[in-house]
Amino acid sequence: MNISKKIALFTPLLLLLAFSCKTETKEEKQTMDYAKELHSYARPNTSAIKHLSLDIDVDFNTEVISGKATYTIENNNASNIILDIKFLEIDKVEADGKETIFKLGEFKEQLGQSLTIDITNTTKTITVTYKTTDKTEALQWLSPQQTADKKHPFLFTQGQAILTRTWIPIQDSPQIRITYDATVRVPKELMAVMSAENPKTKTADGVYSFKMKQPISPYLMALAVGDIEYKAVSNRTGVYAEKSMVDKAHFEFSDMEKMVVAAENLYGDYDWEQFDVIVLPPSFPFGGMENPRLTFATPTVIAGDKSLTSLIAHELAHSWSGNLVTNATWDDFWLNEGFTVYFEIRIMEALYGKDRANMIALIGRQDLDDEIKNFKEEPNRTKLKLDLIGKSPDDAMNSIAYDKGYLFLRTLEETVGREKFDVFLKDYFKTHAFSTITTEKFLNYLNANLLEPNNLTFNTEEWIYQPGIPSNQAIISSDKFANAEKAIQQFLKSDSIDASITKNWTTLEWVHFIRNFPKTMTAEDMSRFDKAFDLSNVTNSHIAMVWFEQAINLDYHGNQVDQNIENFLTRVGRRWYVDTLFRAFKRNDKVDEALAIYEKSRANYHSVTANTIDELFGLNKQ
Ligand code: BES
Ligand code: ZN
Repeated sequence: MNISKKIALFTPLLLLLAFSCKTETKEEKQTMDYAKELHSYARPNTSAIKHLSLDIDVDFNTEVISGKATYTIENNNASNIILDIKFLEIDKVEADGKETIFKLGEFKEQLGQSLTIDITNTTKTITVTYKTTDKTEALQWLSPQQTADKKHPFLFTQGQAILTRTWIPIQDSPQIRITYDATVRVPKELMAVMSAENPKTKTADGVYSFKMKQPISPYLMALAVGDIEYKAVSNRTGVYAEKSMVDKAHFEFSDMEKMVVAAENLYGDYDWEQFDVIVLPPSFPFGGMENPRLTFATPTVIAGDKSLTSLIAHELAHSWSGNLVTNATWDDFWLNEGFTVYFEIRIMEALYGKDRANMIALIGRQDLDDEIKNFKEEPNRTKLKLDLIGKSPDDAMNSIAYDKGYLFLRTLEETVGREKFDVFLKDYFKTHAFSTITTEKFLNYLNANLLEPNNLTFNTEEWIYQPGIPSNQAIISSDKFANAEKAIQQFLKSDSIDASITKNWTTLEWVHFIRNFPKTMTAEDMSRFDKAFDLSNVTNSHIAMVWFEQAINLDYHGNQVDQNIENFLTRVGRRWYVDTLFRAFKRNDKVDEALAIYEKSRANYHSVTANTIDELFGLNKQ
């Protein structure tokens, strides 16, 4: 059959189709191909936000952010646009400057509500006038007492994974990308900074203007307001912190520029111009958060000896894996974190050598084993690609995405050889820059660009879709860690402890040493170790955390350790630390002790940490 005959035959059918679903065909032609999203009400295939203009007041007296969010939209013949909101009060909605009708959907505990706004197929902008409420989860309003300098209040936001909708109405899916500008009014004594081009000094009137010209996913919208100062490390890196912290932060992070150079040498240009870090008060619920141009960090990484700065390498690495190439849905979270851990460890290797890199990798390797044990009743949770249907994206935030993701990439690297792997990764970031990626898209790209051209077979699908760890896993080893393990046995065998063995230990060796105490160790052994090394009073937060965990496990109460644990849990809100210690209490049947501390410490925690601990102890949300 020739072509014209074929067309003649199909024409009536085509006409019928075109007629019966006219709008669909038109939409399909124009739209982007957004993947199915479980954690947002938005339907970006019909109308998607492209640019946000934020104009807000930050009021510390009422603890409310209020103002207007104006969006430029891509309108594919839509009659409405749907935004996500949670715990927000919506005062007014306009389409191209004219008040329009909006509807709030049913409230769901995890997702919040849909905000459906009537528009016409020519609408170009919408404006939402709104305020936050005292339930708003992204924000933590801190009293002066909760800051380092104790003079002024402080505010910070945490957007990832789905909390941006609690402080800005937004299409809160990582597949959305927007540029933004913002005007933020704060009390005159304070400075405001965002995940954007930032001021380096305070303004006289407390009004700050921001621009973010690279398109970012909504979970990367971020704001911090406090009595902070800036100190440059290089012409494109530097630190923001309260006065009493800024020099310490500057010293601790003085290798920032070298890290950026190492990262660029590995996987291509840094596309965000500026890389700064703000050191937040200790209640910040994460170690770090990779807000573009301005990483948010916990002060617990400031150890005084640069020993915990792999966290900065990690957040920097997200400038490629995460911020440039973004997981399309939270089911694909391992694409953000697994790649970032791999990249972090490569940066650390480039700066400080293989020994340190392998120790970091081994700490993660042990975390992975622990996590797999935690999930022994739920093996599906040990898959890289998740199925979070009906679940919170928070469920993805565990060692599987990070450390199994890392192990997969390291195994792949060792199989294909580093040279080829680095070329592949560099191309991967370049090809997918400023876009989102699903696990399936990654798999196809990997096959087409690394495995097939090199005639390689690799059990990628097993790594990604099966639980547990495949048998071809890379084996990571460290002589330094082997020595630390030997030291435990030596100390346990002899009456006196030869402290010269530990003389040149780094933080990572201490952590490994303490974490690997045998279960048969006793409180008396702990006491002997404590007399030799004064571990109950150690100031390094990572060493303190693992020591405190062992004190809880082994029922050790000497050298003021109980008081120090309580102080630590009351001051620090970093979820990983807090959760580890409260879990240890629970595992060891010490729930009463834990709750006595939690009663005092909870008020100091950001909602992210408080929710996790509430759930751990089965407490109702307050
Ligand atoms: N992006 C994450 C933090 C995050 C993940 C927040 C998911 C909310 C939901 C950040 O890059 C991270 O991984 N932080 C780690 C530090 C890191 C060195 C492993 C942390 O906070 O401990
Ligand atoms: Zn991360």
